[in-house]
Amino acid sequence: MSLGTEPDILLAAHALSLRFGGVLAVNQVSFELRRGEVFTLIGPNGAGKTTVFNLISRIYQPSSGEIRYKGQVLTQVAPHRVARLGIARTFQNIELFEHATVLQNLLIGRHVHHRRSLWREWLFTARVREAERQTRRKVEEVIDFLDLQHYRDTLVAGLPYGVRKVVELARALATEPELLLLDEPSSGLNVEETGDMAFWIEDIQRDLGITVLMVEHDMSLVSKVSDRVLAMNQGEVLALGTPAEVQAHPGVAEAYLGSADDASSLRRPRP
Ligand SMILES: Nc1ncnc2c1ncn2[C@@H]1O[C@H](COP(=O)(O)OP(=O)(O)OP(=O)(O)O)[C@@H](O)[C@H]1O
Ligand SMILES: [Mg+2]
Repeated sequence: MSLGTEPDILLAAHALSLRFGGVLAVNQVSFELRRGEVFTLIGPNGAGKTTVFNLISRIYQPSSGEIRYKGQVLTQVAPHRVARLGIARTFQNIELFEHATVLQNLLIGRHVHHRRSLWREWLFTARVREAERQTRRKVEEVIDFLDLQHYRDTLVAGLPYGVRKVVELARALATEPELLLLDEPSSGLNVEETGDMAFWIEDIQRDLGITVLMVEHDMSLVSKVSDRVLAMNQGEVLALGTPAEVQAHPGVAEAYLGSADDASSLRRPRP
């Protein structure tokens, strides 16, 4: 079968490259995401991990190569259509509406789903009302799932950092994705919060059946939740395998030693 069309392959990146001026941020990167797995990108600062996410989100157009999602060429899809295809993400730096409540943030996030005609909106037909009810139901479900009931009506600006990270996760889940991209879910979290994040990711995979593509520096979290790990350095693929295999790969330790990161214990300060 051709690339990215096998039923168990949700997304396939083939020979992806992206150059920013003199920097080859991503260089001939290929990998396949199997349905239902947690697949993690690791690598020192500047390795190209977030750029891979931005290519999948269609924020950037690759210089060469392609991405297929469920067999469809994603690199030809307009950026605003990506969420409708079932791809949701969180950001390395939390991106939420600070002056809206948790509930409002989730409702806003969820609106990517509706293709509404202004006429119908204006007339407020039964169909729109039903869609609205469905949205409310889904959002309340996600709030329960991630144990956010206590913060439901609190402004995001007033929430502790660790809770905001969970709200960002909730906003992504409210769109009912098939593929969830998490960019450094543990960054800025303490050990206990990181442990909770691991549980949420496991629940998302097991109970919701969502495929997760994650970028993460904390190797204890990576080892706990990842089915497979891909290590990158300077835009290139270094190693691919189980967490243990990749951690044992000599090139991986070397890449981290050559940078300011430490593969076993990197923990970023809260932004
Ligand atoms: N918009 C941009 N314009 C120019 N250069 C960029 C841009 N985005 C990323 N880069 C460069 O591309 C390279 C890869 O950056 P990227 O953000 O993907 O790294 P990363 O692996 O996510 O690193 P970190 O662990 O620090 O988040 C870096 O050299 C970075 O400076
Ligand atoms: Mg990054």
